[in-house]
Amino acid sequence: MTGAHTAAATDGPPSPRWVCEGDAWRCCPPALGGRVWIWLVDPEDPGVYGADTDLSERERARAARFFRDVDRRQFVAAHALLRAKLALALSLPPDEVRFTRAALGRPELAADQQPQPTGPLGPGRWSFSLSHTRGLVGVALAWGCRVGFDVEAQRPVDALALAPGILDDTERAEVAALPDPARWRRFLRLWTLKEAALKVHGAGLTIPANTLQIRGADQPTPRIVGAPGALAGAANRVVSWQITAASLPRRT
Ligand SMILES: CC(C)(COP(=O)(O)OP(=O)(O)OC[C@H]1O[C@@H](n2cnc3c(N)ncnc32)[C@H](O)[C@@H]1OP(=O)(O)O)[C@@H](O)C(=O)NCCC(=O)NCCS
Repeated sequence: MTGAHTAAATDGPPSPRWVCEGDAWRCCPPALGGRVWIWLVDPEDPGVYGADTDLSERERARAARFFRDVDRRQFVAAHALLRAKLALALSLPPDEVRFTRAALGRPELAADQQPQPTGPLGPGRWSFSLSHTRGLVGVALAWGCRVGFDVEAQRPVDALALAPGILDDTERAEVAALPDPARWRRFLRLWTLKEAALKVHGAGLTIPANTLQIRGADQPTPRIVGAPGALAGAANRVVSWQITAASLPRRT
């Protein structure tokens, strides 16, 4: 097996209990407050999430535009997984879940599908984040807080060449001081953390990743110590992380 980094970040509330319960989460009713569920699936597995039947017309059209089959399967699996999990949460058929986009491109559940007025889990709203990488797709679903999720396959990359656009000076020095493979692993970990944090805010490409400063990337609870103006408030509210190593099926 090869590996992947996954990182999920939330903006609160403090000390949420993280759970990852596979498909059985409904059997374990969560208590009130921030809760996050994460599911990872193999996009090459033609099983449950391989079909595009539950996708919207627009999603199917997007899927059809991928040049490479492998990218199309990743897209279909991620969106089928997302719809399946939101459908469970909302007690709706998967193909009836509707989405909207926030100003900076963050996909969100359509406002009229948020439970009214408080939902079955107490006051809150659903938030989700999805990510795909070669061989793995993941969805994080959160109640009562905003979640950002990223997954990156572990593979050797030229960390020093990629670093300027992504790491700040301190992070670059930290990465440069390591020998490979520790170097590219640390680089990819920082990358994953940054993408998760950027997705919490929803800034996407509008915020250069090298302006988001992370310390303690090798620790279970990294700290965001600097962020550009637009992101500063949101980055300061990233209060919890779940960082894991996931296994990827080895393919020949
Ligand atoms: C969202 C973003 C941060 C991540 O993209 P990515 O790593 O290429 O791809 P991922 O699979 O992890 O995530 C893509 C998903 O994020 C979601 N997404 C898109 N824009 C988003 C935003 N503004 N906020 C939150 N989530 C967003 C979508 O669900 C998207 O999936 P979809 O296109 O199938 O609908 C992207 O806007 C981006 O900036 N990509 C550039 C990658 C880069 O240079 N990263 C630097 C290292 S930090």
